[in-house]
Amino acid sequence: MRVVVLVSGSGSNLQSLIDDVHAPGDAARIVLVVSSHPGVKALERAEAAGIPTAVVGLDGGERAARDRRLADVVEAADPGLVVLAGWMSILTGDFLDRFPDRVINLHPSLLPSFPGLHAIEQALAWGVRYTGVTVHYAEEVVDGGPPILQEPVAVMYGDDAEALTARIREVEHRLVPEAVRLFAAGRVRRDPSDRRRVQIVPGEGE
Ligand code: GAR
Repeated sequence: MRVVVLVSGSGSNLQSLIDDVHAPGDAARIVLVVSSHPGVKALERAEAAGIPTAVVGLDGGERAARDRRLADVVEAADPGLVVLAGWMSILTGDFLDRFPDRVINLHPSLLPSFPGLHAIEQALAWGVRYTGVTVHYAEEVVDGGPPILQEPVAVMYGDDAEALTARIREVEHRLVPEAVRLFAAGRVRRDPSDRRRVQIVPGEGE
């Protein structure tokens, strides 16, 4: 399965995909990495792995025009799946409608708790005992599409943002490759009569 990854920053989740699903013979092939910003670490990681890169930013322009440009760049790579791995810019229907049910997003909380920015800090401020990680279908509502995979992470007494972020990242680095493998195996299905329900089809012998 051809995968395009959209990034904005450090790209540690991109790295987990490069390491876990991108080797020859693996389930997927990352054919393009697109960043919303130039000069970020994620682009260095892609280049080190020999993956083509592009930068498509807002550049002070209009979001709809940026999203059409972005969709053209992504479509030219002919992806079976688009992964938003730390992509920190809102996407409109001008992008999402071009890849129906093929764009997934990663978020560092158990949605619908703590959508938007600073999810980990929000969880700490609330004092919740569990937060976690969600991989979900991307829709126009920010962090609002139906979950595909979720996993809780316990908040320990005395955790600061750095400590909790480290434990959340560990889970992300497992869940994102797992989601890609499930898509590549055709095991993710959205119920056509209730599109908020997502079925993970059991694998052989499960
Ligand atoms: C990840 O923690 C991801 O969950 C978060 O950005 C980080 C990117 O890290 N995404 C969001 O908050 C999206 N709402 P990375 O660049 O090291 O992969």
